[in-house]
Amino acid sequence: MVALALNGIGAAYGRTKVLSDVSIDDLKGGSVTAIIGPNAAGKSTLFKRIASLIKGPGLVQLSGTQAGPRTICYMPQDTGANAVLTVYESVLLSAKQGSGWRVADEELIEIDKVLKALRIDNLAFRGLGELSGGQRQLVALAQALIRKPEVLLMDEPTSALDLHRQVEVLNFITDIAKRDGMIVLIALHDLNHALHYCENTIVIDNGTMAASGATSSVITRDMLRDIYRIDARIEQCSQGKPMVIVDGALHG
Ligand SMILES: Nc1ncnc2c1ncn2[C@@H]1O[C@H](COP(=O)(O)OP(=O)(O)O)[C@@H](O)[C@H]1O
Ligand SMILES: [Mg+2]
Repeated sequence: MVALALNGIGAAYGRTKVLSDVSIDDLKGGSVTAIIGPNAAGKSTLFKRIASLIKGPGLVQLSGTQAGPRTICYMPQDTGANAVLTVYESVLLSAKQGSGWRVADEELIEIDKVLKALRIDNLAFRGLGELSGGQRQLVALAQALIRKPEVLLMDEPTSALDLHRQVEVLNFITDIAKRDGMIVLIALHDLNHALHYCENTIVIDNGTMAASGATSSVITRDMLRDIYRIDARIEQCSQGKPMVIVDGALHG
């Protein structure tokens, strides 16, 4: 089984250090981990380091599988709308990244499957520039999934989606992770989504890893007070599952 380990990961933009010393043992294939933390904490920067899109100290180790250009795939937070491509072309382009340009029939079938699974096959021949933010987010997910990565880094993938789509996408991703043994890391703001869908959670605060472990042991009243500066309760819902209930923002 594939496993991902981070060892002393850091990053800087110019001379400004924005991330330091993030270490994590063995995230296993099939697991879904939430990356949470306030705005500008360094979540996207951590993803870019893991995907080798930026350089910095530390080691990203992917074991138990052959390393290759397709192994780690980053789905960015802002999916550009300026492309002149259609949805279909953009997914095909992503599929062909790092390989030759010859397109096999099976690859076209795979693209149809992914677009259908995400219920965006009706958009296949629309231009990317003509889509809503939520539709673009689903296309970005199709572009990532078509590459069948071993590690999928999703940066706030549900931020522009309606509730139905949010639940649909999170269920879909957790199912695929289990089915294909993919390691999924998701940057999330909705902590109830983290509690519901992610077995592990990593908290990034001010460029450092403030906590990590089983989600229910990481998302606590104290963490919400210290990191998010909110007054909140973790209560059990009628089905016995933990839920965050926010009472207010703390000042001072
Ligand atoms: N390309 C960049 N150049 C300079 N500073 C950046 C750049 N990208 C992000 N930063 C800064 O790095 C810090 C962490 O940003 P980011 O990783 O995007 O945070 P998050 O995803 O947690 O909101 C912020 O202070 C942000 O302003
Ligand atoms: Mg971000």
